[in-house]
Amino acid sequence: MSCGHFKVPIPKNEPVKDYAPGSPERSELQETIARMRSATREIPMVIGGREVRTGTLADCREPHDHAHVIGRFHQGSAAHVADAIAAAQKAKPEWAAMPWEARAAIFLRAADLLATRYRPILNGATIVGQSKNVMQAEIDSACELIDFLRYNVGYMSEIMRNQPESGAGVWNRLDYRPLEGFVLAITPFNFTAIAGNLPSAPAMLGNTVVWKPASTAVYSAHFVMQLLMEAGLPDGVINMVLGSGREVGPSALVHPDLAGVHFTGSTGVFRQMWRLLGDNIADYRTYPRIVGETGGKDFVFAHPSADIDSLATALVRGAFEYQGQKCSAASRAYIPDNLWPRLRERLGDEIATIPMGDPADFGNLMGAVIDRASFDKLAAAQREARESADYEVIAGGESDPSKGYFVAPTLVKSADPKSRLMSEELFGPLLTVYVYPERDFLKTLRLCDETSPYGLTGAIFSRDRQAAVIATEELRHAAGNFYINDKPTGAVVGQQPFGGGRASGTNDKAGGIWNMLRWVSPRTIKETFVPPTDYRYPHMWAQGERR
Ligand code: SIN
Repeated sequence: MSCGHFKVPIPKNEPVKDYAPGSPERSELQETIARMRSATREIPMVIGGREVRTGTLADCREPHDHAHVIGRFHQGSAAHVADAIAAAQKAKPEWAAMPWEARAAIFLRAADLLATRYRPILNGATIVGQSKNVMQAEIDSACELIDFLRYNVGYMSEIMRNQPESGAGVWNRLDYRPLEGFVLAITPFNFTAIAGNLPSAPAMLGNTVVWKPASTAVYSAHFVMQLLMEAGLPDGVINMVLGSGREVGPSALVHPDLAGVHFTGSTGVFRQMWRLLGDNIADYRTYPRIVGETGGKDFVFAHPSADIDSLATALVRGAFEYQGQKCSAASRAYIPDNLWPRLRERLGDEIATIPMGDPADFGNLMGAVIDRASFDKLAAAQREARESADYEVIAGGESDPSKGYFVAPTLVKSADPKSRLMSEELFGPLLTVYVYPERDFLKTLRLCDETSPYGLTGAIFSRDRQAAVIATEELRHAAGNFYINDKPTGAVVGQQPFGGGRASGTNDKAGGIWNMLRWVSPRTIKETFVPPTDYRYPHMWAQGERR
């Protein structure tokens, strides 16, 4: 056994590769994509370290070419969830007892494998399976996941070092226990990094996990699981169950040993889960920790002094990168009437130039939206914008599902600041603008704060410092990630811990120590070296008595 107060390697953000023509990373990634496209991969569940096949198969299709099947995955049922929970419970004692630095080493090795051999694999899988362009894949499935793994090791070590004071004759200690039971991780399609982080953050701290990835992102989740296993994750620590959420979710959620839920997804699903947990609250062995990041109706607010060039660029990138399918994507903007005529022209011109198509063609900025349901919802919103007198379509407005689920980047002006498109989350490339009278800056800030139930991300653009101070104060609870003169997307682990409150989630900040703290249950240990041997206190002694 090794002894020591081990210092973990100091985490640094993984450098983003640029995939410029002629670069070695570009050709390696293109070869990987071609290989992935030329075969149909069979994807099993992984329970207790064993590959589990049910024969009930579902397809993994490329969203930008939905006739093309790149994988088929085996779908599980409630019985597989029960097996996964049993496997997690079986692995728990040994995993929880493993020295924390040994657990850390597994995830640090995973980070290094991902920075090298697995980089083209996870980027390629995210490009073909989730329709991300190369830069969006690189900042997600490579850099962000590497950063989550390395920084979380750093936060774990910081937690372990956080120890109480001790008075004379006493030694106080905090024992950071994993939660009692298993953690259920339910992960979204839009970030491979989140899919990797949600099961691995609790696992790092000694928990064992049942992981249910989104069916639309099983293809990349499969490679995340392979990466963790190759890094040395013991059998049963993370168990990947596949299938419909309705089929596999509820049986895990009502299990008496459920100790925590780590969720990213829709507000509706999160509320349903919370309700179910509430209804069953007396049946759990311990109160389950509920950590969720859900929707957003993220805003960009321009002050009359804003710089038009940086504002326009932030709006295009913030609203349309990854087809607006980021929880953080800009989907409403408040623009003063002094800036609107020039901004309108500038945005109209720029949006018309955005290349959209197969993301394996590195010349494209945008790919397709994830599936038919998402396409239909967005096409309906575009139709509403075209047909309602409340709206004016400034750019885009069309969609075409014939080959892939392509939704054109769309800019809409709304006469009503509280219209559906200004207040409801759509999760796609649709940005709605409300133009306000220049003199109504403060009034419009309040309107922005009240308009949606969410509180995830937002930005103020201003060259006037006092205006930025006022906006920062007025919008204090409107966004958990607030940006000054920057787009509201692209949070970096270790730099901008991510998450928001209100209907956007529990604000436990993925990529921060606050998230890691949710996966431990500290035990306070007080040791007294020479304990008293008489219950009587001095005030009880008789006059002149001494002991
Ligand atoms: C997300 O979690 O959806 C996005 C994070 C970001 O873009 O800042």
